[in-house]
Parts: sequence; C-alpha cells; structure tokens
Amino acid sequence: MRKAVIPAAGFGTRFLPFTKAVPKEMIPLIDKPVIQYVVEEAVAAGLTEILIIISGGKMAIQDHFNPEFALEQRLEKSGKTALLEELRAINRLANIHYVYQQELNGLGDAVSYAECFVGDEPFAILLGDTVTSSDTMPVTAQLVKAYEKVNASVVALEEVPWEKTSRYGVISGKTDDGSLYKVDKFVEKPAPAEAPSNLVIASRYVFTPSIFECLKKTPRGKGNEIQLTDAMLLMLQNHPMYGLKVNGKRHDIGNKLDFIKSTVEFALQRPEFKTQIAEWLKTLKLD
Ligand code: UTP
Repeated sequence: MRKAVIPAAGFGTRFLPFTKAVPKEMIPLIDKPVIQYVVEEAVAAGLTEILIIISGGKMAIQDHFNPEFALEQRLEKSGKTALLEELRAINRLANIHYVYQQELNGLGDAVSYAECFVGDEPFAILLGDTVTSSDTMPVTAQLVKAYEKVNASVVALEEVPWEKTSRYGVISGKTDDGSLYKVDKFVEKPAPAEAPSNLVIASRYVFTPSIFECLKKTPRGKGNEIQLTDAMLLMLQNHPMYGLKVNGKRHDIGNKLDFIKSTVEFALQRPEFKTQIAEWLKTLKLD
C-alpha cells in the first residue's frame, strides 16, 4: 500500500473563534501542527503518496508543506542548521497532493474526491484533525499490517466507556484473537442500552477502492451530509470488513478539551519540558 487520503476540509466549528481564520489542522501540539503529525503517521506506515482534501481558507496547510526559500536562506546564513534541516525534512516527507472539496457536504463527500487519486489500489484514510499516539507501532501501520493479513477493508477501533457510545459509530462483530473483529454491523451513535459493543470507529481506516461505488450510492444522511459510515454500511452488504482494536490513543484536536489534555500529555513526553511541566502541575491549586 502506498496511498493515504487526509480529509481536512471541515470547518472546525467546535474550535471557534480560533478556526475563523486558521484551519484547525494548523493547531499546534507543542511545536508541530496537527496535520504534520498526521502526515508523519502516514509516512511511518510506508504511505508516501498523500492526498489532502482541503477547502477555501485552508491555504496555510499547503504553505506548511511547501519550501520557504527566503526563510531557509535566512536560517542558513545565521548558522541555524538543525532548524533548517528540520524544515527541509518537512518538505521531503512525502509527495503531497491537494484537492478542494467544493461544498462541505460531509466526510463521505470529502472522501469521494479521492477516487481519481486512489485508482484501483487499497488506501488509508486519516482524519486530518486527529492525532494518534502509540507505544508500539503507529496506528495506521497497525491497520496496514492487518489489511495485508485479511485483504479487506479494516477500520481502527477504540474501546470507550459504555455511557459514551452515543457519540460514535459503534461496531458489532466476532473475534478470535480479541483484537481483529469481522464486522457484521455498524450502528451510528447508539444509546448505551442499544449499543452492540463499546468498540467505536476511531478516525483511521484502510479501504479497498469499492468504497467509492458505495459512496456514489449513499444518500444524504445525518445533518443532510454524505456520511462515510452510511457508505460503510452499504459496503458491508457485499464486501467483508474488519475492525482492529488498535494499540494506541486518539487525540481529537478539533475538540477543545482533548486539545488541552493532549498538549499536556505531549509536553510530558518531551525531555526538555517533562520535569518542568510535571513540577508545575503539582503546584496548581484546584478548588
Ligand atoms: P468533523 O466531524 O470533525 O466536522 O469532521 P468538522 O466540520 O471538521 O468540525 P466541526 O464539527 O465543525 O468542529 C471529521 C473529519 O472530516 C473532515 C474534517 O476535516 C475532519 O477531518 N470533513 C468533514 C471534511 O473534509 N469535509 C466535510 O464536509 C466534513
């Protein structure tokens, strides 16, 4: 597998007013924007042909991955070689392509813009506003590995507390090893009592190109938008689909609380901040 699609056209209403002029994918975790973590995750899975789906007002994403010669010259002249190398490395990460979603008609609609880019190959989808962390293998690499085993679409699954099932797409399925599930049903945002499991679809997917045929047949659904989950339901009728309980954690940076928690967690993982942040946290008075 070599292709990844990153939907990043969504408006970001949950993070207003910040997202009025700046795309939510440019929100930083410490010193890197969210979109860079996402691209790095795709590259770590061996996916170096990347299509980012954007919309008006998201030019900063393109600027971030384009070389900035004046800045590079300036850093070179002032001998800031480490920083210069870091910036150049960003441009060398992958072949990044862009397409504009003409109208914000939902995630399913955004993904359908990738059909031409994907062709007849399997591909991964990584939501552009969500970072994952894992102490074993990056989450997308885990999905690619599972795809190679089952040769069918695989979505990342995360276990959530039962009372939160009503916020997510939930699966029901069977498993032999407790991590790879053969999916027999997707239920969108079920109340806890109706949820078939507490395993939810977690912002990373690997699909065969048949998803595009299903997207074409998908009518507008919740919020009058074309929902990717609805297309997945159609796909289940004729194609096997799997869910992988991934080893890792999801950080939905488009959600303010998740952003705050993730910033602290990421700072605690950086050697230069770890001790100072840990000590500072202890001094905070909570009442
Ligand atoms: P969200 O559900 O987070 O919606 O989209 P949103 O519109 O981006 O954000 P809020 O709810 O207004 O704060 C999930 C993913 O689907 C992409 C988003 O960019 C995000 O990666 N998306 C959503 C699109 O690319 N196009 C759309 O029309 C909708």
